[in-house]
Amino acid sequence: MSLDNIIDGRAIAKEVHTETEARVCALKAVGVKPSLIFIRVGEDPASRVYVGMKERSAMKLGIRSQTTVLPSDTPESQLLDLIKQFNDDEGVNGILVQAPLPPHIDETKIFSMVSPAKDVDGFHPINAGKLMLGEKGGFVPCTPAGVHELLIRSGVAIAGSQVVILGRGNIVGKPMAAILCQKESHANATVTICHSRTRDVVFHCRSADIIIAAMGASEFLKEDMVRPGATIIDVGVNRMEDPSQEKGYRLVGDVDFKAVQPIAGKITPNPGGVGPMTIAMLMRNTVLAAEQQVAKHK
Ligand code: GUN
Repeated sequence: MSLDNIIDGRAIAKEVHTETEARVCALKAVGVKPSLIFIRVGEDPASRVYVGMKERSAMKLGIRSQTTVLPSDTPESQLLDLIKQFNDDEGVNGILVQAPLPPHIDETKIFSMVSPAKDVDGFHPINAGKLMLGEKGGFVPCTPAGVHELLIRSGVAIAGSQVVILGRGNIVGKPMAAILCQKESHANATVTICHSRTRDVVFHCRSADIIIAAMGASEFLKEDMVRPGATIIDVGVNRMEDPSQEKGYRLVGDVDFKAVQPIAGKITPNPGGVGPMTIAMLMRNTVLAAEQQVAKHK
């Protein structure tokens, strides 16, 4: 079976990191070492892993990072105060509050407290609004920005294409749609968002040139839902019960890779597809934040 239709997210992320590293060096030449704050609340195992990966990536690129871990019963007001403190700290360029947060904390309120200038996640309403309006200079959420970059750098034709996004979340689905329907080169797509109330998901998927699966349902996308030759991007990271594994589960995507890969035009593996790109975009956003803050203080 030929595997030459696989999009290598790790290799493309490496390309982006090389570009980011050059920008870190340029900042260092003017006496600035970019710095990024991670805030994690509670001990969600996936969040621990993700923040750990982001810390390691920052270190490799010469970005200073610091992680604050708070207990899961931390009052919302304490988290808001902590963010405010980092907002006011001129030595901090970027702030990331890892989601999900415990249920007693209002995520929207927290994301809105992060200074828009340090919002490397792109979750603040001002940055979300800039993306909707097609305004330049805002921060774009890392996962959809990473998917966009993967499509561009893999030579996938986006303009005029039919894109189906599975999932309407604020972190991936909605910003992804805003990116791809923008009136710009490498966008100009016709975008459909499918979700749990969509009447005929199979119909939409079968007419798509590009499918971006980000709804969090294990191996949901099967071969009979895909038009041969379509580009398939798998954003999902789900636990599937598997007694043969030491942990009792294994991680699977939203795409049934084995079934879909033979008929796809291009497809991301999982892991090794979108995940590394999310981190690459976070590092790039952090450097952008530092550059913008330097320019402002000139
Ligand atoms: N949880 C899942 N994805 C993300 C992300 O991109 N940023 C943050 N802060 N939390 C997440």
